[in-house]
Amino acid sequence: MRILIIVMNAYQRFVRPLLFRCDPERIHEQTLALAERVGSSALGRHLLSSLFAFADARLATQVGGLHFANPLGMAAGFDKNGRVIQALAAMGFGFVEVGSISAHPSAGNPRPRLFRLPLDEAIVVNYGVPNDGAAVVADRVSQRPIAVPLGINLVETNTGQAIEPDAIVAELAAALVPFVERADYIAFNLNCPNTTGGVSPFTGGEHLRDLLRECAAIDDLPPVFLKLTAHTDPARLDWMLEAVDPFAFVKGFIFNLPPGTNYPLRSPAHLLSSLPGTLCGRPVQALIDETVRFWYGRIDRQRHAIIGVGGISSARDAYRKIRLGASLVQLYSALVFRGPGVVRQINAGLSHLLERDGFARVADAVGIDNQAKAAV
Ligand SMILES: Cc1cc2nc3c(=O)[nH]c(=O)nc-3n(C[C@H](O)[C@H](O)[C@H](O)COP(=O)(O)O)c2cc1C
Repeated sequence: MRILIIVMNAYQRFVRPLLFRCDPERIHEQTLALAERVGSSALGRHLLSSLFAFADARLATQVGGLHFANPLGMAAGFDKNGRVIQALAAMGFGFVEVGSISAHPSAGNPRPRLFRLPLDEAIVVNYGVPNDGAAVVADRVSQRPIAVPLGINLVETNTGQAIEPDAIVAELAAALVPFVERADYIAFNLNCPNTTGGVSPFTGGEHLRDLLRECAAIDDLPPVFLKLTAHTDPARLDWMLEAVDPFAFVKGFIFNLPPGTNYPLRSPAHLLSSLPGTLCGRPVQALIDETVRFWYGRIDRQRHAIIGVGGISSARDAYRKIRLGASLVQLYSALVFRGPGVVRQINAGLSHLLERDGFARVADAVGIDNQAKAAV
């Protein structure tokens, strides 16, 4: 643990200030190039796991028929093209979600499209899902085995033009096919804030059912999660549960952030007003916590699980989401602001908190602070 503290201090005091002087997207690309190299060698992976991985049987859990050594995953967007799954798995993430990936390659939105708000430990994202396309990424991840579940996050191709709902359904189904054998789960990014401005044909009507019917026809379909804009509207939620009801392969929900930067922030207002995109990081924590609490109270918990993502940067943050009803959690922004040591710090901290509170398994803590659980 002492080495971890040294590594985290060194990252935050020396490495981060240097990195933050450069263009965020360039630094991200360089980080991926380094992580890809380190993750491709057994020695590199050994080094990463000695530094950052933390194992404890208490953290192991089963969700959607899959086994997770710990509940902390890498959220979608960090590794859009499946290049660094080996490094991320070696670093101790309990699962890795790659993407978002579309049926066709896409260059995304024009640059600049990624902005840091260090005062808020937040990132404003307007990438518009650039990616290499499903065929290339499927081929890449097939050649890179990892020992943790691999999630594949799929989205419609961003062409800059509006797409008809039927075409989106066909695209998502086509993007899924190359991943059927390799993905441990599929996450459909149904309301990507950077492609459709958070508006989605999947928030009403028949289109979600059409998509799920297409999926049902695919042999050996992996478990499916739906990533949709965070909300606490009972009518929308009931509609969603009704739409997925006939499809047992839908195993749960992940929450996307709404577009915009409408949170109480420390960053200067004039800076924010000029930034297009969606805010991620610490300020979104309360919104997602409330969404987790709300959904957990209404879903059939024997059938559906929640993956809680948004604003997690400590073990306490992760534990709060779990106690509100998340069976698994993910992060992205904290990796940028706290460095890779955050993975071990959160897993070790979670294990300590579970032990302190007398939980033998992380699953025993899921929903414990949710009145809905107490009411059962
Ligand atoms: C730079 C960046 C790119 C992202 N790209 C995607 C993406 O392609 N697909 C997706 O489903 N989510 C994407 N996300 C959202 C994350 O998966 C996650 O939901 C969000 O960042 C909240 O978690 P955080 O507060 O820990 O960052 C992205 C987030 C960031 C910061």
